[in-house]
Amino acid sequence: MKKILVLLLVTFLFQNSRSQNGRMIIPSELSNDLISRMQEMGSKLTADAIYSPDKTSLNDAVIQFNGGCTGEIVSPDGLILTNHHCGYSAIQSHSTFEHNYVKDGFWSQSLAEELPNPGMYVTFVRKIENITDKVMEGIDDTMDETQKKSMIQKNINRLEKTLPKKDWQEIQIKSFYDGNSYYAFTIENYKDIRLVAAPPSSIGKFGADTDNWMWPRHTGDFSVFRIYAGKNNRPAEYSPDNVPYHTDSYFKISIKPKKAGDFFLIYGFPGRTQEYLPAVAVQQKVEVINPARIKTRKTVLDIMKSYMSKNDTIKLQYTAKYARIANYWKKWIGENQGIKRTGVIEKKKDFEKYFISQAQAKKMDPDYLRIFNLFENLYKENRDIELARNYFIEIFYLNNDLLKRALLLYNLKQTYEKQGKESFAELQKKYAGRLTGSFKNYNTTVDKDIFKALMKLYAAYMPAAYKNTSFNPDNIDDIAENIYQNSVLNNPDELKKLLHKGPKKFIKILDNDPGYLFAEKFIKDYYQKIAPDYQNIRSKINNLQKKYMKGIQQVFDNRPLYPDANGTLRITYGVIKGYEPHDAVYYFPISHVKGIIEKYIPGDYEFDIPKKLIDLYKNKDYKPYSNSGEMPVDFLGTAHTTGGNSGSPAINKEGELIGINFDRVWEGTMSDLYYDQKICRNIMVDINYVLFVIDKIGNDKRLIKEMSITK
Ligand code: ARG
Ligand code: ASP
Repeated sequence: MKKILVLLLVTFLFQNSRSQNGRMIIPSELSNDLISRMQEMGSKLTADAIYSPDKTSLNDAVIQFNGGCTGEIVSPDGLILTNHHCGYSAIQSHSTFEHNYVKDGFWSQSLAEELPNPGMYVTFVRKIENITDKVMEGIDDTMDETQKKSMIQKNINRLEKTLPKKDWQEIQIKSFYDGNSYYAFTIENYKDIRLVAAPPSSIGKFGADTDNWMWPRHTGDFSVFRIYAGKNNRPAEYSPDNVPYHTDSYFKISIKPKKAGDFFLIYGFPGRTQEYLPAVAVQQKVEVINPARIKTRKTVLDIMKSYMSKNDTIKLQYTAKYARIANYWKKWIGENQGIKRTGVIEKKKDFEKYFISQAQAKKMDPDYLRIFNLFENLYKENRDIELARNYFIEIFYLNNDLLKRALLLYNLKQTYEKQGKESFAELQKKYAGRLTGSFKNYNTTVDKDIFKALMKLYAAYMPAAYKNTSFNPDNIDDIAENIYQNSVLNNPDELKKLLHKGPKKFIKILDNDPGYLFAEKFIKDYYQKIAPDYQNIRSKINNLQKKYMKGIQQVFDNRPLYPDANGTLRITYGVIKGYEPHDAVYYFPISHVKGIIEKYIPGDYEFDIPKKLIDLYKNKDYKPYSNSGEMPVDFLGTAHTTGGNSGSPAINKEGELIGINFDRVWEGTMSDLYYDQKICRNIMVDINYVLFVIDKIGNDKRLIKEMSITK
């Protein structure tokens, strides 16, 4: 019995250690063991080929795309591939009524036609170094956590300035294993990034929200950009004189047919995972936080949908907003179901028993024997605070335009009162575009209905300790009428004027505005009560989590574990593989163009397709991207990915590009909290389909010639 338990528990953390999966590995820590495991699966890649600080290696061809996604370089002239959903706002920003690149696609035919995107940037990681010792300098056990933290921060600030680097580089230091390790990243930011090509949305977003997080999937989720540099090939601000970035490190592309079982590797920038939380934390997420967020968003989405289905203008205005809100709404539903279905909480509890037994056997710090009681108490104390914070963010920041405007104006007012005139003027400029821009895709009636529904939710569900009782939801109709008619928050012209006023006048207007005054009391509650309470309990939880993480490392004799994602460059590998979403159902890992035709609904905003694609299908005109008579579209694999991995290259055993990562399957979205190889899959768009679309739909032979394609 005991043996079985231990085996079970060890597989909890090492379930994939000898199988078809490697998870979120730091590229500079590719051990011989990992390389040989990959080789057992067919890989021919050496550690040096994947990452090397001094030689050209694959890390030089992988970039963080605009801070949130990943991209890869596919030509010696800085051509980048990423997802359509990562390039979407850039594509949208260049679209007009006459040139609707979102709807029709964009295919530049020369460098001169490539379109600049102010503010957009990409980041290279040139070197990664474990500098834990340096960050911990001067720390000793007599210090309490607060003293330690401030010492660590001081060291980080100093090291970011003093570690060796070239003039055009930056040093970024990030914490790993909940603050037990620190790594320095030598990075380069290129700031002149131009749009080169994008498929029509009916390909790049095919299936939209209905198919999002789902398999079978048929989305051609890619777009094409290019890095421009100064004449010396170094980062430069946008200039018409800049030239394409030149490099020896770019991906060659393989269009050989793929099959289940093939090895692949994902190289990219996963944003955030939390796999080492105690059971109580996961339980709180699943039973308290996720349901609150799901309920709030469902309310908002239902209202949007009811208007969108009746009115085409509103549909157009709200499609992107709807997609953004629906994305995590749907993810949390999948996450909750996956956690329950795979018994994550029970598995974690079992692990915690094992942890205690090991702490005893290994004579670890006796504090570890009560660590789960401490967690229990902290998460009890945390419950209402966490809930209040989530309701506040969902209601006042993420889902209603009017309340969000109030929040931005509050920040402006605070900035003046705390930091003075200059900071105020600076922030005013910064917010101006966002505030006036928020009327672009906006409908007063829709927003007002959402406002009313959200404020009713607030009254019903905000935990009592944090609820503002001066608000009576019975009057919400009158309150809403008054605000939406008379407040500057719903008046683009008046708001624009307000944004040109000096601070005194600005504040005077706000202090007499019915909408602002209504919102301000809730915002004050947040900053004066909820946020400080949250900070306070969070720092206690974080300290304990740091200790727990260290304990887990000790329990596993300091063998390398995979650190949680934190937005830094990682590798994860796997094989192309299907899965069983439900009893007696098996999903095959590769989808095809014939499946697009099966889903095709003429005129539908999610499932319409270009006529050209139908013709290509009818003529089976797929060569050379497929010679089999079936054109692959998307494929599944066992790599452990998360938000931020979108746009990541999928690389074959030879180091060639075979696909672009863009999503995960619904049953497995809980992989952020617990990765289960049985049902967690990442979704990639097949590079053959990407090239097929560029070549035969976009007719962009220039790009096909520019890339190195192996048949
Ligand atoms: N689920 C994917 C990822 O999180 C794709 C999101 C874009 N698509 C959408 N319908 N919102 O973020
Ligand atoms: N779609 C996600 C992204 O945008 C990827 C994921 O969550 O799997 O990064």
